[in-house]
Order: sequence, then C-alpha cells, then structure tokens
Amino acid sequence: MRGYTRMYWEKEVPVLKTFGLRDGLSVVELGSGPGIVTDLLLRLLPELTITSIELREEAVVQARAYLRDRGHVGVRVVRADVLETSLPDNAFDFAYARLVFRYLPDPLGAIREAVRLLKPGGTLVISDIDLDLWGLFEPPIPELKPALDAYGRMLAARRGDARIGRRLVRLLEAAGLTRTGIEAVATTSADLAEGRSMGTFLAPIGLGRLERMVQGGWLTARERDHARNGWKRFLASPSPFVLKVMLVAGATRARAD
Ligand SMILES: C[S@@+](CC[C@H](N)C(=O)[O-])C[C@H]1O[C@@H](n2cnc3c(N)ncnc32)[C@H](O)[C@@H]1O
Repeated sequence: MRGYTRMYWEKEVPVLKTFGLRDGLSVVELGSGPGIVTDLLLRLLPELTITSIELREEAVVQARAYLRDRGHVGVRVVRADVLETSLPDNAFDFAYARLVFRYLPDPLGAIREAVRLLKPGGTLVISDIDLDLWGLFEPPIPELKPALDAYGRMLAARRGDARIGRRLVRLLEAAGLTRTGIEAVATTSADLAEGRSMGTFLAPIGLGRLERMVQGGWLTARERDHARNGWKRFLASPSPFVLKVMLVAGATRARAD
C-alpha cells in the first residue's frame, strides 16, 4: 500500500462512517487514481458496489489490473471527467472524492454532477488538503515555505486550488446540499508504517517534485537547496515529529428536491 494513502486512511474511516458509509451501499468514487482507495473501501466493506471515475487512461488501466489482481471483479472503472460523467441520474447512495478537488477548475460544477448522480438522501464526501493547514514539523522547517507557495501557484495556473479545504463547506452548501459537516483528520509520524520513510510526509512537495518545480520554473535552485537542507536538518534532529492534516467534508442530497 502506498504511503500517502495509508497515512490518512485509518483515521478517515470513522469519519466516512459518521457521514453514513456502510456496507451494501452503491458508491461512486470520483478521481479514483490507480485503485488503491477502491481496494481499501472493498476490504473494509466487501458488499459495496463501486463505480470508479478516473480521467487519466493510464490510471484507469492500472486500477482495473490492480483491482482484478485483488479479486474485486465487480468494480466498474470508467474513464470520464468528474465534471461530466455521463452516468445515469439518481444512481448512487454515496459519492466519495478523495484528494481530487484541489485539481478541479470547476469544483462547484463537479459537486453538482455528483449531486445528479446521487439518489435523494445520498451523501457526498470530499477529502482534501488546505495548504495553510498542511502540516506541522518539530523542529519547524521554514525553508519549505517557498516550495509550498510554488505548489499553490502551480495548481492555480491550472485553475486548481491548493487551498480548496477552506472552501468545501460553502461549495457543498452552494450546490444545495444539506447536513453539511467537516472534520479534520490528523496523522503523525507516529502512525508511519514500518519501512516507510519520513519523506512520505513531504507530499505533495516531495524531493522529486521539488526538482520538477525547478525545471518548470516554479522554484529557484536556491529555494530547492534551502528546502532540502531544511529537511536534512529536520531528519537529523534528535526527535523529529510531523503532524499532517486532511479535511473531510460531507453533505446530503435532500430527499424532496
Ligand atoms: C491525487 S490522485 C488521488 C487518487 C485517489 N482518490 C486517492 O486518494 O489515492 C487524484 C486523481 O484524480 C484524477 N483526476 C483529476 N482531475 C480529474 C477529473 N476532472 N476527472 C476525473 N479524475 C480526475 C487524477 O487523474 C488522479 O488520478
């Protein structure tokens, strides 16, 4: 299981259940990537019926193989844009979008599409980050700030928003959903699975990404070097500790609309 996914998953599960996820529901997963979360959902609740939507052909192919290899023969993985899925109205009990909304140029449009897919009384849950709540490091690493700012600019240039977390509640309300709630899920270096490196916590500004940011002109070489040195200093400190936060927002489609 990949580090970034595992980091939050166990903490996310109780929140998903609070928002109404339970076995036997029909679920549409929006922006499912390579199928890791699909597998986690099915291992948790084997009677779910899942349709996964993913834009990138490569990830669709990967997800189909990943899920088949794990015996999940009933999952549909559909190549589509979450803004326009072409799936039927009123088809699902639960819609789940994990770490995808920050990339979307029209998050409200994507919520409206998810609402269209939900049965009346169905629930939409969106999990994502907000750059200003991204993480706390002890000892602090102020040298990471230029890279975080650059990541925010990069997403904004593609009409995404790395500070989507703070907007989720208002967006859900603007789409006419009710019973809106949001929880902050925290994971720390104490949760790091055995064999996983602390570097997992740098996502989405991991060391490889820093290099690509320099190549793309988003970060200077000097800023990259400062970030790396800050990270090395952090790792070499006597007892480095990280706390990272993901926001999980949920809301319900009213029964009579
Ligand atoms: C960071 S990954 C998250 C994958 C998975 N949900 C998880 O939590 O591990 C974001 C995924 O959303 C997909 N994505 C981005 N924009 C999309 C869109 N408009 N429609 C469908 N999928 C999209 C990307 O291709 C990528 O696979």
